[in-house]
Amino acid sequence: MKRLFIKTYGCQMNVYDSARMADLLAPLGFAAVDAADDADMVILNTCHIREKAAEKVYSELGKLKRLKQKRQAEGGRMIVAVAGCVAQAEGAEIIARQSAVDIVVGPQSYQRLPEMIAKILRGTGHALETEFPAEDKFDSLPAPAAHGVTAFLTVQEGCDKFCTFCVVPYTRGAEFSRPVAQVLAEARALVLGGVREITLLGQNVNAYRGAGPDGPWTLAGLIEALAGIEGLQRLRYVTSHPRDLGDDLVNAHRDIGILMPYLHLPVQAGSDSVLAAMNRGHTAADYLRLVERIRAARPDIALSGDFIVGFPGESDADFQATLDLVKTVGYAQAFSFKYSARPGTPAAAARQVPEAVKEARLAELQALLSAQQQAFNAACQGRTLPVLFESAGRKPGQAVGRSPYLQPVHAENAEALIGRIVAVEIEAVLPNSLKGRLVQTREEALPH
Ligand code: 5AD
Ligand code: SF4
Repeated sequence: MKRLFIKTYGCQMNVYDSARMADLLAPLGFAAVDAADDADMVILNTCHIREKAAEKVYSELGKLKRLKQKRQAEGGRMIVAVAGCVAQAEGAEIIARQSAVDIVVGPQSYQRLPEMIAKILRGTGHALETEFPAEDKFDSLPAPAAHGVTAFLTVQEGCDKFCTFCVVPYTRGAEFSRPVAQVLAEARALVLGGVREITLLGQNVNAYRGAGPDGPWTLAGLIEALAGIEGLQRLRYVTSHPRDLGDDLVNAHRDIGILMPYLHLPVQAGSDSVLAAMNRGHTAADYLRLVERIRAARPDIALSGDFIVGFPGESDADFQATLDLVKTVGYAQAFSFKYSARPGTPAAAARQVPEAVKEARLAELQALLSAQQQAFNAACQGRTLPVLFESAGRKPGQAVGRSPYLQPVHAENAEALIGRIVAVEIEAVLPNSLKGRLVQTREEALPH
């Protein structure tokens, strides 16, 4: 057996890709381990969305170089691969900057890893793949293995929106949707393997237009078909763009019981001039109207978002508009970032907001978002929620799962219930999770 260590940075799609790479390399005799020491192969599956992410990769590569040298001194060998979006964006530059790297492989080419490894083992230098090959990557990958109760399933990749701050259209390429039959087959296999909750992934998942038997299907159609899979109990999807959220998807939140009441719908900013400079293709009012439509369809829906502060040209008044929008919407959860200039994107060349201003705005926004999250969680105190238990907790007998609103919930005497949806009364709201008490020990027909 050869030891494979994969370190994953960034988004859930990278988590999915890492699992697929592990599945792909298993037949070659690679078994996953959880540390780089003594590994025969290390893959860094990287993220390029913000500057810090790429810098972390280079510092990790520095450490790997020492481990690799140590292995070589002991007569062993360690192959180092950089995959993901930094690989796509920087390509050969990575090998130039860090000679310990053997393989650079972009997110659309990792099905080629076996040949690339073979090339390295033949001792023919480096291997680099950063093309967007014409073949369907998913056709060349083995069927994914189910690990546990929840799974990610990529249904859409790439982005045609070209927000002026974002590298994704360059690193992941144009929007592409997997055919309906392929997605359904993968989902059925996961459910047969014990998966109870599937999160559909896409950079613009709601732009899904996969080929179906009768022409392209929307995400709502796909969700409806997936909901028919016996044994699948929960569905989620991420990330959605406000521009592509059609009425059928809004109605799916009303009509499809296993579709969870949670929606990650990034708005990025609350000022119309900033939204226009970002090329978002919607105004703050468009977004608020959309939120109203979704809440009309599913009143208890938990909303989540992404925000960028300090985008070039953002004034105090613009930032205030972001705070106002957040106050109007009321988020259950959110991510917020300081704008980070990404080379090659249009906004990178514009005059930048001073770092200290970004810092102050981020602190103010995060205080507001965190208060909203705490208020959302506090409102769950005393409620009974259906929890899908996913894994053992830290204490014996304890299990950890998720509420429909994606909140982590832990409960005692629940370990035997992993894989099931159980009614749990929320007894306490802790900073990062909810503490619950089982109100039944048997699966019952509950609203999801
Ligand atoms: N700087 C800061 N945040 C960014 N994001 C994307 N690009 C940048 C950037 N250049 C954020 C957006 C996006 C999330 C995944 O990352 O909010 O929705
Ligand atoms: Fe990036 Fe905008 Fe595409 Fe999202 S919609 S991936 S932020 S370009």
